[in-house]
Amino acid sequence: MTAGHDPVKLMKQQVGRSAAERVQSGSIVGLGTGSTTAFAIQFIGERLKSGDLKDIKGVPTSFQASVLAKQYGIPLTTLDEIETIDIAIDGADEVDPQKNLIKGGGAAHTREKVVDGLADLFIVVVDSSKIVDQLGTTFPLPVEVLPMAVSPVTRAIEKLGGKSELRMGVKKDGPVITDQGNMVLDVDFGAIADPAALEKTINNIPGVLENGLFVGLADVVLIGEIQGEQPSVREL
Ligand code: A5P
Repeated sequence: MTAGHDPVKLMKQQVGRSAAERVQSGSIVGLGTGSTTAFAIQFIGERLKSGDLKDIKGVPTSFQASVLAKQYGIPLTTLDEIETIDIAIDGADEVDPQKNLIKGGGAAHTREKVVDGLADLFIVVVDSSKIVDQLGTTFPLPVEVLPMAVSPVTRAIEKLGGKSELRMGVKKDGPVITDQGNMVLDVDFGAIADPAALEKTINNIPGVLENGLFVGLADVVLIGEIQGEQPSVREL
């Protein structure tokens, strides 16, 4: 995988590399989903191959993450076999000043919340376009829903002030189906005043598996930036 001269890809590559450098030998690593984390997985694999990193195991957050991990030679494990995750690296669709996140642009937020939430150190990797003053202002909130409950959940969310759209497939007729066989509503709430309260309220609707609000989970946010053709990384 190369970034070429695409500035957004260059930022993602740089921030992915920076997170991968923080992984230590002997650790259990949560492997996030998305185009930014894909670079981190690639660099972890390269460090393993060069011998700079030894004896790590990855816990994938999606089918995509497990395919990439295998491609780059990262041994995998499951939550049945381990008790703690030392470090998780994952992307985000929005990050606010309190390090709260919206995730789920890749429909993987349910497993991501399980894995990222178990990590002693959860590092978020984003390019600078993801930084917002308030969550919900640039990206709708993804909500994973049981297929048979899409209609009642849509109505319940409407009562909370959210406009839902069922996420449709690309190069696939019909809705996106998650790795767990469910569907995703993308909900426009406008600016979200109280992310912690909304996260709980939505998850309390019967039929909702998980929503993409990650409140109080991120420890470190690394932001890829670019000036001219020079990418750099800063910490929020
Ligand atoms: C996957 O469902 C998401 O939570 C991703 O982590 C998020 O969409 C960020 O993806 P990119 O790194 O591709 O922007």
